[in-house]
Order: sequence, then structure tokens, then C-alpha cells
Amino acid sequence: MITPRISSLIYFSARHIAIYKGEFATVDNPTFETTHRIVISDARDMHALADGSVDLVVTSPPYPMIRMWDNLFSRLSPEVEDALEGENGNRAFELMHCELDKVWRELHRVLRSGSFACINIGDAVRTINGNFRLYSNHSRIIRRCSDIGFDCLPVVLWRKQTNAPNKFMGSGMLPAGAYVTLEHEYILIFRKGAKKEFESKQEKLSRMQSSFFWEERNNWFSDIWDFKGTRQGLDYDDLRDRSAAFPFELAWRLINMYSLYGDTVLDPFVGTGTAMLAAIASGRSSMGVDIDEAFTGYIAGRIERFLPEVNKLVAERIERHAQFVESRTHEKKLPHHTNAPHCFAVMTAQETQLQLKRITGIRLLNDGGFAAAYENIGRLETKEQFEKARTEMDGTASRQTTLDL
Ligand SMILES: C[S@@+](CC[C@H](N)C(=O)[O-])C[C@H]1O[C@@H](n2cnc3c(N)ncnc32)[C@H](O)[C@@H]1O
Repeated sequence: MITPRISSLIYFSARHIAIYKGEFATVDNPTFETTHRIVISDARDMHALADGSVDLVVTSPPYPMIRMWDNLFSRLSPEVEDALEGENGNRAFELMHCELDKVWRELHRVLRSGSFACINIGDAVRTINGNFRLYSNHSRIIRRCSDIGFDCLPVVLWRKQTNAPNKFMGSGMLPAGAYVTLEHEYILIFRKGAKKEFESKQEKLSRMQSSFFWEERNNWFSDIWDFKGTRQGLDYDDLRDRSAAFPFELAWRLINMYSLYGDTVLDPFVGTGTAMLAAIASGRSSMGVDIDEAFTGYIAGRIERFLPEVNKLVAERIERHAQFVESRTHEKKLPHHTNAPHCFAVMTAQETQLQLKRITGIRLLNDGGFAAAYENIGRLETKEQFEKARTEMDGTASRQTTLDL
């Protein structure tokens, strides 16, 4: 139930005091759970997934014409191997994409109407038969996904950090035989069908609770992403190199931008499970498919190591918002709205029901999947409430390491 509340002061962090107008008290929301399953299977045929059963896809396929994936594509289609051995670059490129096309068709089938598929892909450069050229993976995928029936939305350029001293290719300082370096990848964003409508009261509330901060919107909805200074995904391992994993922040942002609490996120090329971790951290359910069995146990272990970090991510988000409000206050541009669940200042009416959640535990399910439980974070109105929430999050973080996998 929503009831009006009047107040004049909030402490939002140890360092911040702001005046606000006061709007609503919190909306009760019982504990809720998300579920997570890994399936070792070929994503070209995901018949186990029903039509329209997925709310968002976040994925990164093996990249055609990048050498590390040659063997895999040759296993998917022996003709690829023949084309590579015959040094027929165009044919190899097209045949590799024909295998990915089968997955894109499956994604269109399993996605709910109005939902999004976000595909991270890089182009390739390669010398075949003495001829160095670009193989434009992103444009090939846009073309085929459009044929399949997806609407392509503006894409994001992810600027990768490269420190390689020998990154420049070609004739050095002599014109005209040098090539610019590929320092970016793409995040292609496709929508299936018309924009989703949120009609019922419950749907509208759920959308409001899943909203993000105004200042996050300004950062996330830029078409150039650079993850300098953000968490790269708690990446401490070598298998990540073998799988060419994307950064945690990439998946986490996309999930928050394009889905709601409780939605189901699918990654058909799940690899080391980054998208699943990001789904857990965002209060979404997830399904990860991979053809390579090596990843199953690995993902479970990664989740166990990751769990203590989840609530730290939420605490950091709160801290960043506190700093934002503080800087607006200094500039005398104080946000004029109040968020009901947390009682802190926010910029727009759309953020007034934004509900942050902390993870309280995770358990194994009989079918080998697992469930994560969350509870709503309450008021962050006073310094004491803020500190209490932080302590609780630290507490749940240390308890979670007891997961027995
Ligand atoms: C670029 S990696 C994905 C990395 C992942 N985003 C991560 O965070 O680790 C591509 C993955 O696709 C898997 N793969 C390739 N072909 C597949 C197929 N037909 N079905 C399912 N998985 C496939 C590979 O085993 C590999 O793990």
C-alpha cells in the first residue's frame, strides 16, 4: 500500500544531507527468488525452450574469422574447414555466419514479443592468400537478423583498451599501406516486434521498481562505452581468456537497461557465465547454454566466488548515487523528487519507486540449477539507516560463502 509521508531532511550518506519534499512511504514487497540454469547443448536448436519464454538475450558468439574460433566453426560445419584450407576467405566467412544464423532464428522464436536481443560482436581482420582485409561480422549479423524479423536499434561501440605496443599493422610510417587498428567492438541491439506495452497496474509498478537512476541513464545510453574504472567482472581466471569473456559491466548494464526484476535472461553462448552472474546481481532469472561441457562446473564455482561481491555492487551503486546527489546539492541543482522505498533524493518522477534489493542467499535446486533469494533494501533516510544497510550487506556477503556446490 502507498501512503503519503511528509519529511524535510534526509541523511543519505555519512557525507550528505539534502532537503527534499517527501512523497510516499515504501511499497511492501515480499522476498523474491530468481532461478538460474546452465544447459550443455547446441544453441542452433534450443527446442527445450518454449516460444516466447525469454525476456532478454545478452550474448557474445564465437567471432567468425577470428583464428581462436576456427576449430569450433569447423566442428559446426565441416565445409568451413574446407573453405579455410582452400584459402577461400569469403566462403569461410559466409559459412561460419550461416551457423550463427541458426542461433539468431532460435532467439527470435524464444523471445517474447517486444523484448530485446543484445549481441556483442567484433569485426575480424585477417590475411588469407596474401590478402589482408576486414571481415565485417557486425554488418553481416545486422543484415541477417533484420531478415529474420528483428528491428535493429542504434548500436553501442564498446571501446576496448589495448596497450599492445605492436598494435599498428601494415607499412609503418610509409604511406599508403597501413591499416587502422580495431579498437572497438559492437553491441548490436535488436527488438522483436513492436514496443512492449506495460498495461496492468502491477506491470507498471514492476517497471517503476526496476528503474535506474537518471545519472546512470545519462551514462548507459551513450553510444560509446568505455569500461575504464568499472568492475570488469571480478575476473580472476584463465578460462576467461579461452572463452573471450565480455566484462561483467557490459552484461550488467544491458540487463538493467532492457529487462525488469524477475525477467528471464538467456545467453545462448554462455561461456564462463558472465551474463548469468550479471543476472543474479540484477535480480533476474537466467538460462545459459553452451556447447562446451568444460564450462558447467566452472560457472558454478564462479558463482560461489562471486556471491560475496553481489551486495558490494549494490552498496557501490548507492554510494555513487549519494555522491551524485551531493554534487548536485553543491551546485545548487538539488534533485526535486524523493524515492519512496529509500527516501533519498532522485532527479525524476520515474525513479520514485526504484527499489534496490540485497541478495540473502542461494540454494541448489534438485534439477542442478540454483535459486537466489533477495529482500528489499529499506529506508536510507538517515546516516544510521545507511550504515545499517551497509553492515547487513557486508553480513550477507560473508554468510554466502557457505554455499555447498
Ligand atoms: C565468445 S564465447 C562467450 C563468452 C561469454 N560471454 C563469457 O562471458 O564467458 C562463445 C561461447 O560460445 C560457445 N559456443 C560456440 N558455438 C556454440 C553453439 N553452437 N551452441 C552453444 N554454445 C556455443 C563456445 O563454447 C564459447 O563458450
